[in-house]
Amino acid sequence: MKGLFISFEGIDGSGKSTQIDLLAKYLIKEKKPIVKTEEPGGTKGSNEIRKILLRENNFHWSVETETLLFMAARVDHVEKVIKPAIKDNKIVLCDRFMDSTIVYQGMRSAKAKKLSLNLFELIAINPDITFLIDMDPKIALNRALNRATEEDRFENYGINFQNELRKNFLDIANKQRERIKVIDGDQSPENIAAQIIESVNNLIP
Ligand SMILES: Nc1ncnc2c1ncn2[C@@H]1O[C@H](COP(=O)(O)OP(=O)(O)OP(=O)(O)O)[C@@H](O)[C@H]1O
Ligand SMILES: [Mg+2]
Repeated sequence: MKGLFISFEGIDGSGKSTQIDLLAKYLIKEKKPIVKTEEPGGTKGSNEIRKILLRENNFHWSVETETLLFMAARVDHVEKVIKPAIKDNKIVLCDRFMDSTIVYQGMRSAKAKKLSLNLFELIAINPDITFLIDMDPKIALNRALNRATEEDRFENYGINFQNELRKNFLDIANKQRERIKVIDGDQSPENIAAQIIESVNNLIP
């Protein structure tokens, strides 16, 4: 058994957390060692940054400064959790990773996008596979708005913003077909999970 790094991407409310839970359940049943984690977060330091980044009415930074905070959280997460787990031959399931920064911050500023890519040498790891859960933002937004959380600043941008996010995620997926598998999110959770499990099983002996 070799370590594996899997990330999940997609617009707000597309079903990432749901699918990570379903895949985690399956892998645990199969007696595979997993580490379930999320971005921004995953470590004490990164979670402190997460709290600052995702609290409400938190719009006083430039997109570039925001990008630096996301990248700082990611460096800590990669160093302390992701790389050690992979070295330990575990399967890492990560809720959002680099693609989210490229999309969410990069969409608002070309400089921020370049900045995150320039800092990539501090991360120096790509997921073995990324599941992009693609879906109509209207459906996803309704799902997301039905949940009451305080971490909703990105959802507040509305439907046009979500459409733009979707397009940007799909653009990246088109350019990196080897790594990113696009999954239609407008299906039952079980159907989506079955497709994800099939792909993952192709990667593990
Ligand atoms: N395939 C599905 N069909 C119908 N409802 C779903 C499906 N997947 C998830 N949901 C529901 O939609 C809502 C959003 O799902 P989930 O929290 O997994 O999305 P997410 O991508 O993690 O969102 P966020 O980006 O905000 O963290 C939840 O209420 C969840 O139960
Ligand atoms: Mg989630």
